[in-house]
Amino acid sequence: MCGIIGYVGYRNTVPVLITGLERLEYRGYDSAGIACVDHQKDGLILIKEKGKLGVLKEKLGDFAIEAHIGIGHTRWATHGEPSRANAHPHVDASGKIALVHNGILENYAAVKSILQKKRVRFLSQTDTEVGVNLIGAYYRKTGKLFDAVKRAVQELHGYFAFVLFSKEDPETLIAYKRSNPLVIGLGQGENFVASDVTALIPYTRQVIYLEDEDLAVITAQKISVYSLKTKTWVKRHPTTVHWDVSQAQKQGFPHFMLKEMYEQPEVLKNILAKRTPGSGEIFFDTLDKKFQKRLREIERVSMISCGTAYHAGLVGAIALEQYTRLPCRTQVSSEFRYGDPILNTKDLVVLITQSGETADTLAALREAKAKGAATLAVVNVVGSTIAREADAVIYTHAGPEIGVASTKAYIAQLATLLLLAFYMAKIRKTISPADLKELLREFKKMPQHCARVLKDIKKFESCAEKHYTRRNFLYLGRGCNYPTALEGALKLKEISYAHAHGYAAGEMKHGPIALIDHEQPVICIAPESKTYDKMISNVQEILARDGIVIAIGTDGQKDLKKMADDFFAIPRVPEILSAILTVIPLQFLAYKIAVLNGRDVDQPRNLAKSVTVE
Ligand code: F6R
Repeated sequence: MCGIIGYVGYRNTVPVLITGLERLEYRGYDSAGIACVDHQKDGLILIKEKGKLGVLKEKLGDFAIEAHIGIGHTRWATHGEPSRANAHPHVDASGKIALVHNGILENYAAVKSILQKKRVRFLSQTDTEVGVNLIGAYYRKTGKLFDAVKRAVQELHGYFAFVLFSKEDPETLIAYKRSNPLVIGLGQGENFVASDVTALIPYTRQVIYLEDEDLAVITAQKISVYSLKTKTWVKRHPTTVHWDVSQAQKQGFPHFMLKEMYEQPEVLKNILAKRTPGSGEIFFDTLDKKFQKRLREIERVSMISCGTAYHAGLVGAIALEQYTRLPCRTQVSSEFRYGDPILNTKDLVVLITQSGETADTLAALREAKAKGAATLAVVNVVGSTIAREADAVIYTHAGPEIGVASTKAYIAQLATLLLLAFYMAKIRKTISPADLKELLREFKKMPQHCARVLKDIKKFESCAEKHYTRRNFLYLGRGCNYPTALEGALKLKEISYAHAHGYAAGEMKHGPIALIDHEQPVICIAPESKTYDKMISNVQEILARDGIVIAIGTDGQKDLKKMADDFFAIPRVPEILSAILTVIPLQFLAYKIAVLNGRDVDQPRNLAKSVTVE
């Protein structure tokens, strides 16, 4: 959470910072600010505003700044309400050091009271201001910013990343990373640092992912990295980013979310091209022989993740258990990490995450590793912390996802986890080559099916128009479409702010049926499946109580179509693949309802794309 950026080089820093912040705004958007050193006047300039980046941009219009070093921040509040005073950057009491921060300084209260005793005055409620003042205190003693940061960060507890400079050395940025992501972008006569690569791709493809406890000194010409872990200067090798700039732009769509939904067939096509090069083959380039051997030997699997990624894990676990006959549990990361899970070397823990930075999932990974389990990260963001720390990683290759509500990353997680289940069944010999070949033959049609669903999706617009003023929605599904019900409900509540609840349809009689009356829309996910008849019984029960049925079914289900108030059909596919398609009309329904309610679809209130605090 929070996006941070720094620049030093020949360009005017202000447009670079603003372009970067525009791309990082999905990480938090309750306030934004920049600090730089004016080339002409030699003074530290600090401009920050409450509200979205647009408010800051408007404010900047009043200034003509020529600066070649600067830092910027877009905030998701942790300590202190969204306000101008609490917005970053923060400056130390001497007015020399400016700092931006992502994460939490857990012992800030204790450090603050020590500093207050030394007569340091604080202007905000943030932990960040404590961090910059601790650095400032050491800077006053040593006169060396690098040494001051080195000492200060060792006293600060928690997980955080800093980028800072002193106006007394307007040629040098210092960056520090502990758990929260920081990536350096390499230029010619300029260098960049940011929370993620999306902010850097307009300028450079060459990046260095900092590791935990790295302290980087960045000038326009040079990057030096000191590791506080090894207590030595280290060489961090650059890697090339292959993301396309256009993927991080709206390209004529009104919202990123809609654009990303329409990218789903392409995402599936890419995954299939990478993972299934031959007819009965499944290929994961990043799983080496040693890890493959481990996969053959494991006896239990846990799928651990948060939010939408948790729903993908539920589908993955159903497929894995079905095809490998291995016991497979699913748990949200925050429960797993504090639950003292029973794990040993025969366990496989699969961490599913779009960002690769989610704090609870990262902690779950560390817990699983400490207990000797094999850890496999299924991650979208290349080079992210979870991708690097797990024993093995499989990338989902969805490209950058900017809309806060996850769409294409979910589809990519589903496809990857299903292929992983089939792959494990293959190497453990629990699926016959003929069955696998048939499954993959069906899987290869999915991009086409997905494109068809998107082509038909506008038909569902009238359903959104009928119901957008309602405040309560129920979603029901069974089997691999029970997670679809959870995901459909999550999409609706996060972007439209209506209350939506997903249930296993069989649970309806155990409570939620009391909600049903003539005003209650119930979204029934009932594609062709072994529980189709049971879903039809649930639909009858809803109709008998005057409820409104919105059904997602399969082509040719005349009975369901007749019963439903609104009906959307997906193409006929094997049940286990259906979850990839049934979620798409639900993404669209949520999107449309949010738009009709005038919500900020890409940046819904209180949320951030990357949840790097617990
Ligand atoms: C919802 C959504 C979130 C994330 C969750 C985990 O649309 O995007 O629920 O799925 O915060 O994030 P990652 O996948 O980055 O670990």
